[in-house]
Amino acid sequence: MEIFRTIHEMQTWSMAQKRQGKVIGIVPTMGFLHEGHLSLIDAARANGAELVVVTIFVNPIQFAPNEDFDSYPRDFEHDRLLCEEKHADAIFAPTASEMYPAPITCYVSERKLSKGLCAKTRPTHFDGVTTVVTKLFNAVLPDIAVFGQKDAQQARVLKRMIRDLNFPIKMVIAPIVREADGLAKSSRNKYLSKAERENALVLSRSLREARAELESGERDLTKICEEIASKITAAGGKVDYVESVDADELEPVAKYQGRPVMIALAAYFGTTRLIDNLLY
Ligand code: PAJ
Repeated sequence: MEIFRTIHEMQTWSMAQKRQGKVIGIVPTMGFLHEGHLSLIDAARANGAELVVVTIFVNPIQFAPNEDFDSYPRDFEHDRLLCEEKHADAIFAPTASEMYPAPITCYVSERKLSKGLCAKTRPTHFDGVTTVVTKLFNAVLPDIAVFGQKDAQQARVLKRMIRDLNFPIKMVIAPIVREADGLAKSSRNKYLSKAERENALVLSRSLREARAELESGERDLTKICEEIASKITAAGGKVDYVESVDADELEPVAKYQGRPVMIALAAYFGTTRLIDNLLY
């Protein structure tokens, strides 16, 4: 497995592989890898990638000043072992000064899907994501890019960016990987105390119950979202949002009418902000 630290080394390798006709898949991450991230390597392969490049970069420009950039968990050695076990072909792990040698003045910005949901509390976040993912695409030159449904809004925003800006990249969205008890796997779960982690199970549980309600014929999505919010509050969480939206356009949907919808939520347990969602 190759490890590249500079954009130039990364591009040189990818261009050589492409000249040999290889299909390159990219799995962008911020590291502290878990099975959710690793499932994306499998998804890249299942969708035709012959070579998989995992990128590991905690991207400063997607964190607001009050967020957890400094404390975001990092463990490169462990990440490297996990990627090796998964037979990733390369890791691209640039330093912040390699990616941002000077303050950048050119950003990539999506203007619709990146406005609601998480953007209400994180208004500059998605510009940071679209910009860094563009830079990662230009370093790795992938044919296939895999993102997780865990970060549902991010995946929609990036899919739109690929479409609107003509990136010659096939986008794959892989399902959410959960702990045995239902909690969606996340690098940020590490911040939770034992009690907070227990309380946070309300997120996946209330989404499962919402699915059961939909399956038994309930159509009132506003009511379902209100129920989820009160369950989260009752469990000691602080709701950021619980919303039902069109699964592609992310526009609010109050009544289920047979078109795919997503119920997306974000909530704090202690100071840790967690997200989860269901597609129906
Ligand atoms: P990060 O939070 O490290 O997540 C990297 C990728 O792993 C994302 O596509 C995310 O949706 C996916 N992922 C995380 N947890 C998952 C789970 N439980 N099941 C399935 N997929 C999961 O998302 C980012 O990093 C960054 O914003 C990035 C795109 C790398 C840009 O900096």
